[in-house]
Amino acid sequence: MYKILDKTQFSEKVFKFRIEAPQMARHAHAGQFLMVRANETGERVPFTFADWSPEEGWVEFIFMVVGKTTMMLSTYEVGDCIQDVTGPLGQPSEFGKGKWCVIGGGVGLAIAFPITRQLVESGMEVHAIMGARTKDLLLLEDQFRSILPDDHIHITTDDGSYGEKGVVTAPEDRLLESGDADHVFCVGPVPMMKFATLTAVKHGTPILASLNPIMVDGTGMCGCCRVEVGGETKFACVDGPDFDASKVNWDDLRARQAAYRTEEGQAIKAYEE
Ligand code: FES
Repeated sequence: MYKILDKTQFSEKVFKFRIEAPQMARHAHAGQFLMVRANETGERVPFTFADWSPEEGWVEFIFMVVGKTTMMLSTYEVGDCIQDVTGPLGQPSEFGKGKWCVIGGGVGLAIAFPITRQLVESGMEVHAIMGARTKDLLLLEDQFRSILPDDHIHITTDDGSYGEKGVVTAPEDRLLESGDADHVFCVGPVPMMKFATLTAVKHGTPILASLNPIMVDGTGMCGCCRVEVGGETKFACVDGPDFDASKVNWDDLRARQAAYRTEEGQAIKAYEE
């Protein structure tokens, strides 16, 4: 059992848990993820590490309520215990030398932050593009500002309630055009990553994407997390979660993400009744 040490609610549907997990905290790296089973009969759900402390023995993950399991998790409070947590899983993120543009959209900002911190700590120049639908849904702004100068932070909101009105590809395009960035990392909703990829490809800039498809076992056994990369089938849980975004079949990934929408709706209805 894994005790919840701290709970933060960022918005109506977005939460952060800090859980006691000393062993996991000792081995966690940016880009890796953990699998959570909320209770004995629960499904296994992957969440990428948002932060961790080997000294204090905790790890953090951020989640948005999108289905039954995340709805149930959102009701857990400090002191409650999560049934099972497995990790770290997946390959740690690896970055070549360069001027990086890190793009995070929505809850993807939780993953973009440790990646940005790792790049900054490695001495690389980093611009962060932070995208959200509205100002209220923008995550971790203070954390990003604590490690980057203001002119290296580019905020976009769909409704223009904060930062630049529009989508992340506009500042991405400018950074690549000006030469302020020559490598891109993106994480967020699949459509956002697809268009961030098209923008990078247009400039001939290498781009990595952190993929978080449907996962079940998280160990390469079930095949649920398969993604098509460069015409080959890869398993995001063991081969990823980071992939060369220019080779990802985004339309196939999007279709797979939506495959269980009906069943998810039924599960939420049953849980609420
Ligand atoms: Fe089962 Fe990746 S989650 S193979």
